[in-house]
Amino acid sequence: MRKPVIAGNWKMHKTVSNALGFVKELKEIQLPSDVETVLCAPFLALPAMVEETRETGIGIGAQNAHYEEQGAFTGEISMPMLQEVGVSYVIIGHSERRTYYNETDESVNKKTKAAHAHGFTPIVCVGEVLEEREKGQTGEVVTSQVKAAFQGLSSQEMKKTIIAYEPVWAIGTGKASTAQDAEEVCSLIRKTVAGLFDQSVADEVRIQYGGSVKPENIASFMEQPDIDGALVGGASLKPDSFAALVKAAS
Ligand code: G3P
Repeated sequence: MRKPVIAGNWKMHKTVSNALGFVKELKEIQLPSDVETVLCAPFLALPAMVEETRETGIGIGAQNAHYEEQGAFTGEISMPMLQEVGVSYVIIGHSERRTYYNETDESVNKKTKAAHAHGFTPIVCVGEVLEEREKGQTGEVVTSQVKAAFQGLSSQEMKKTIIAYEPVWAIGTGKASTAQDAEEVCSLIRKTVAGLFDQSVADEVRIQYGGSVKPENIASFMEQPDIDGALVGGASLKPDSFAALVKAAS
């Protein structure tokens, strides 16, 4: 009922020519049409990637955007700027942005609303740090991030939002969560969305797991009832490995 969605988050990797080379190689591989496939690339590469992926079914996303439409925000990129080049997705509240760039629950909420106002599909990241996990606070932390992020959204907007559960301790460490632990948190996220909106909205929202996902372990996550896809860093950087992830989600 929910279409699986695999999104690559390239973070600060790939020049424009590297990005185009990747897309050209990926286009040589037959990807399943029953999986939504997204590449979130550095800003500079986005216009060329949008052009190169036309008619392929591959969606292109940014990794951040400001919530204001324009203004004195040196170094920032706005949603209308991304909209004009044909970007369709935007990652919001990634833990690296929360940690290094002061992204807060409040800015995540503003950005999520701004993303919807400009027709994007936001991929909103939540997740606990190791200390919180060890203190048994995962549920509390994630619930509060979800409530803050989606406050004031309409049901339609919520249904279109993708939530990425990324336990911070699993990102780039090679130590993925177990599928069962990830399912437990994703199921709690869905229940929280049901509490904020209603069950029909929660049933439609797609929830990804992210954190050391690889072709070897993706099947265990995709088997879980509340996990609808993955947000992938390292393993999305090579076309063959990214394609293997997309195929495994079919
Ligand atoms: O957004 C994806 C990410 O944070 C996970 O990174 O390298 O552990 O797949 P990685």
